[in-house]
Amino acid sequence: MALYSEKVMDHFRNPRNVGVIEDADGIGEVGNAKCGDIMKMYLKIEDGIIADVKFETFGCGSAIASSSMATELIKGKPVAEALQLTNKAVAEALDGLPDYKMHCSVLAEEAIRSALEDYYKKHPDAAI
Ligand code: FES
Repeated sequence: MALYSEKVMDHFRNPRNVGVIEDADGIGEVGNAKCGDIMKMYLKIEDGIIADVKFETFGCGSAIASSSMATELIKGKPVAEALQLTNKAVAEALDGLPDYKMHCSVLAEEAIRSALEDYYKKHPDAAI
């Protein structure tokens, strides 16, 4: 069996939503101290919906695939749903990651959560 699923390879080779949102409503940056990889998420939120999301990941292939898949999973969804996105859901959507690569998907969950925290800090009146 191949180490990585076709979906992981696809999202690694053709990551969706790479880039920066200049006027983002929330920005989150997280890193993994062990491997040194860094992930940054930008969110545009309109009427409680994730209208746009972009990411920059300086990291391993699984981290890039995880961020790409995570952006696809939350785009167009209500903020409340994005808050509940888990790394497990990201890994499942990628048809699995090797055990020792699961921590890479954790970065995606944390980056989105951190961007949403930033959004609520900047928009204290926003509904959850
Ligand atoms: Fe660092 Fe994958 S090895 S996020």
